[in-house]
Amino acid sequence: MPPKKPAPPRTKAVTLKTARGRSTSQQLWLRRQLNDPYVAAARAQGLRSRAAFKLIELDEKFHIIRPGARVVDLGAAPGGWTQVALQRGAACVVSLDLLPIDEIAGARLLLGDFTDPAMPGQLATLLGGPADLVLSDMAPNTTGHTPTDHLRIMGLAELALDFATSVLAPGGAFVAKLFQGGSERQMLSLLKTRFSSVRHAKPPASRKESSELYVVASGFR
Ligand SMILES: C[S@@+](CC[C@H](N)C(=O)[O-])C[C@H]1O[C@@H](n2cnc3c(N)ncnc32)[C@H](O)[C@@H]1O
Repeated sequence: MPPKKPAPPRTKAVTLKTARGRSTSQQLWLRRQLNDPYVAAARAQGLRSRAAFKLIELDEKFHIIRPGARVVDLGAAPGGWTQVALQRGAACVVSLDLLPIDEIAGARLLLGDFTDPAMPGQLATLLGGPADLVLSDMAPNTTGHTPTDHLRIMGLAELALDFATSVLAPGGAFVAKLFQGGSERQMLSLLKTRFSSVRHAKPPASRKESSELYVVASGFR
């Protein structure tokens, strides 16, 4: 059964009873987590991340996860997108991250750095055939310097696109996270040469204060 949408936001904010031992940024993070309906909904539905709802919302809008699909999930830890892809009918998911991911039935997990030149080959071997969908929710650790963070995530997204064009079956789809910052327009132009449909979206589960957006390209040529 597909996961339900998150409950509407609470009206009464939860406050921290004590700030003892916590820095200001830790207190802010904790307060945000406690008052975030997506965090609560993810926990209630057994999803490993609030990010899972971003893929649910993208799929509801763009219908990218097809029954029986073979999917690659780049930057998959802790595994929310992998869970959603499987719950929505993917036949198999190959999931990669720098961080370990706890087992998920139906997923093949790979630990490693996607920028390692050996990694695309290892992913393709685990996949064992063409992919129908390549997802990238990879995000580098942010520096707080917006242009640097933008360039870093663009680098990861470009590598993900190179990989996607080497493994996607005709008609396949590609989804990648970007941070807005200028050069995403070049990525959209490049995608248009390789996919029949290219759109971008900021799903409601993406925090308003974040500059992230997702490109959704389908109809791989
Ligand atoms: C926003 S999280 C992904 C959340 C995931 N989609 C989910 O629903 O659970 C971004 C992930 O990208 C991973 N990542 C960043 N750079 C990477 C790289 N070079 N290779 C592999 N994973 C990377 C991080 O370790 C992090 O777990």
